[in-house]
Amino acid sequence: MDANRERLAESDPAVYEALVGEEDRQREGIELIPSENYTWPEVLAALGSVFTNKYAEGYPGRRYYGGNTYTDRIERLARDRAKEVFRCEHANVQPLSGSPMNQAVYMAFLSPGDTILGMDLSHGGHLTHGAPVSHMGRIFDFVRYKTHPDEEGRIDFDELMDVARKTRPKIVLCGYTSYPRDYDYADFKRVADEVGALTLADVSHVGGLIAAGAMRNPFDDGFDVVTTTTHKSLRGPRGGLVLCRKPFAKKLDASVFPGLQGGPHMNQVAATAITLGKALEPEFREYGQQVLRNAKALAKGLLDRGFALITGGTDNHMMVANTVETLGIDGRVAEEALDAIGITTNKQVIPDDPNPPLRPSGIRIGTPAATTRGMGEGEMDRLADLMAQGLAARDDAGTVAGLRGEVATLCRAFPVPGLA
Ligand SMILES: Cc1ncc(COP(=O)(O)O)c(C=O)c1O
Repeated sequence: MDANRERLAESDPAVYEALVGEEDRQREGIELIPSENYTWPEVLAALGSVFTNKYAEGYPGRRYYGGNTYTDRIERLARDRAKEVFRCEHANVQPLSGSPMNQAVYMAFLSPGDTILGMDLSHGGHLTHGAPVSHMGRIFDFVRYKTHPDEEGRIDFDELMDVARKTRPKIVLCGYTSYPRDYDYADFKRVADEVGALTLADVSHVGGLIAAGAMRNPFDDGFDVVTTTTHKSLRGPRGGLVLCRKPFAKKLDASVFPGLQGGPHMNQVAATAITLGKALEPEFREYGQQVLRNAKALAKGLLDRGFALITGGTDNHMMVANTVETLGIDGRVAEEALDAIGITTNKQVIPDDPNPPLRPSGIRIGTPAATTRGMGEGEMDRLADLMAQGLAARDDAGTVAGLRGEVATLCRAFPVPGLA
């Protein structure tokens, strides 16, 4: 055991035991929540480093505190790498996570009451895209577009253009947390240009896939601002990036700090620099492609076993299964049944869900984390089979215990990076 862990074990056994429990849970089970991943050992090292001790309010070369020689160095590195990875003109690497990252963008360009055109939340939009329970939903006026789940999730851009003409949004927002398809960003750009709105893509879910060149990059279609979390498919520490074209840089930086945040978490910025360095390596391109291949294989495995998938499949790393239609159980029951065999998914609303968010009609499933462990298409089919069996036998304790053992055996063959 390393010295720091040994100290923790002695000084605070309650926290230490929870940490070991979580390590075992991650080692013996498989993470299929599409927004989660297993980060790099190097990232874990940076997160647990002395950079956490340092205040660095401001930006490199313009700090409010002394002693920032090395924090300046890593923040510059992270910004430069972000620009290279996402082919953009400016990057802010300080957002503490995805929610403040989006809030900083809205606050940079809008006044309270201004209109944002975003995706309906039950069709895939995120809480920060204006859920009524979020502060953003109370401050700004969100208007919505929907998808056509029966037509492979197609977005009707004529309808979207109509809404835009009627409501004159200041921002046209695309991005999703539970939409299993890709976008044509040029269509959104066309609508935004028509009404003089800014284009914002929140690519949190597919940030790693865009970095890997496996999915479309909104900047290629002239988008103004792109945000992404760093801890999902990008495989880094928890955090957010705001990326933009040069003319928006000053406003966005001022909105992140001092507008919204105080001192950045420099251990996280160091970990972000490492993550972006990894994203520039050729292996990461292969990782992105494998995430997509695995998603297709898992979707096929589930469809073959009778699962009803929203939009009928996937073009990205995720799927949403309608568990009410498939098995007559809500998403919470399905999530708990899968948890019991060591497969982690999350309950999920489906388009125009008649059920409430804590008892929604589906679950969300994704492949970034399993791919990080080295699993391939064969393992995806095996997981689909284990899921089908686990859900069918959810009330049979003996079968559940047996399946849990099978999941653990599979997982032991694919170690979690950084966990011996
Ligand atoms: C599309 C999207 N944007 C923003 C966020 C918010 O990120 P965080 O949970 O780090 O605040 C999420 C998180 O799930 C997301 O899916």
